[in-house]
Amino acid sequence: MLSAQNLASLVQPARVHRQLYCDPAIFELELQRIFGTAWIYVGHESQIKKPGDYFRTFIGRKPVVLVRDAEGEIRVIHNQCAHRGSLVVANDTGHADEFQCCYHGWTYHLDGRLKAVPLQHGYPRDFDPKNPKTAMTQVPRVKSYRGFVFASEAEDGPSLEDFLGHMTTSFDDMIDRAPDGEIEIAGGVLKHAYDANWKIYLENLCDAAHPWFTHRSSIEAAQQQSDKVHSDGSGEIAIRQMRQNGAPYSFWESQVGIWTYPNGHSYLGDYHDDAKLVAAMNDPLFRDYIAAMEEKKGRAETRRVLEVRRWNSNVYPNLSFMSQFQQLRVVHPIAVNRTVVHTYSFRLKGAPERMFRNTISFANIVNGTGSLVLTDDLEIYNRIGMGLSSEGAEWIEIGRGLESDLPDAHGGRRGKNSTSEIYIRKMLQAWLSYMTNGHSQMRAAS
Ligand code: FES
Ligand SMILES: [Fe+2]
Repeated sequence: MLSAQNLASLVQPARVHRQLYCDPAIFELELQRIFGTAWIYVGHESQIKKPGDYFRTFIGRKPVVLVRDAEGEIRVIHNQCAHRGSLVVANDTGHADEFQCCYHGWTYHLDGRLKAVPLQHGYPRDFDPKNPKTAMTQVPRVKSYRGFVFASEAEDGPSLEDFLGHMTTSFDDMIDRAPDGEIEIAGGVLKHAYDANWKIYLENLCDAAHPWFTHRSSIEAAQQQSDKVHSDGSGEIAIRQMRQNGAPYSFWESQVGIWTYPNGHSYLGDYHDDAKLVAAMNDPLFRDYIAAMEEKKGRAETRRVLEVRRWNSNVYPNLSFMSQFQQLRVVHPIAVNRTVVHTYSFRLKGAPERMFRNTISFANIVNGTGSLVLTDDLEIYNRIGMGLSSEGAEWIEIGRGLESDLPDAHGGRRGKNSTSEIYIRKMLQAWLSYMTNGHSQMRAAS
């Protein structure tokens, strides 16, 4: 039985029970209590620029459609026909004047209200097409932060800005890097799937202690290459990225930080000290970009923006993004031991096209299933899935850094350095709070 007390007993300050990653009953409860209440990232406004534009996605396992309705309002509606339950919208993205179910032709307005029903004369006399129960129902709360759209199935709860807290600065960091102050999703989507729990993904994205082992084969290969392997420069980014993954522990423990904030959010500091990868370091590669930034924002603001150094920012429970190379990943839980991740790239409006080429090169390096980085991580995710399905060891250690974590100036906590597992502890603290409706806190959590 999954009482608050039982759930609390599974999450301890320095360890967590394997049940959280492989118990189907816990997974079902997570869909209700976490994905069914929290603000869930659903898409970006640039994907639905005009009335009628739509983007199909999921809140937890529930299919939904992000759409700009005829009045220009952003809506998130359940992608389910009120007749016999079929998915209504089957394309990933598109433009429509109305949505029509391809089973028996029930037709809906863009905001989900029922518009027309074939054979309506045949329905019982009290059948009312205006009854809200005959609509594709709306997700009650939808809100954007500077173009990033979130939806919550809870009628009440914290505002999006309260939920995000200091993490808004990571979104700002991505947007402020655009000379025109706007970004747009571009270049398609890369998808990958693995056979393990959804929580594993966010746990890896801020894990500074794994590259040296997990990515060693590509690090060693990169160390043997010259800087330039492709004339267009894309190989150069790959090689330098791999080499940075091979930085020694002394670097991760002195130069890189990890910061955490309420509701399970966190970000890892940037670990690059390579001018080819960090615009603020003023490599010739970035000359035109910096000129475009300075023209629009002035020198001081350009300097301020480009000196922000963050690697991955995790917004719990379903988003991880990276402002430096404009990457965004959305986590879709499928089953307790099955997860799908969709990854997107953003174009910085007003930046030279070469910047976007770098973004795409970087996406192929870290988010492509044929890449030298993701293939290693996918193997690890699957191994974790397999390992945790064994009943050998019950508890997982998450205590690294527990005794040295520190307060942060913005109401959070940070690790003494990037190898602290504080971000996992904080995600689990948020997990427990969601799962017990705030009735249980982790004992003596850092
Ligand atoms: S299920 Fe959609 S019209 Fe019948
Ligand atoms: Fe990795």
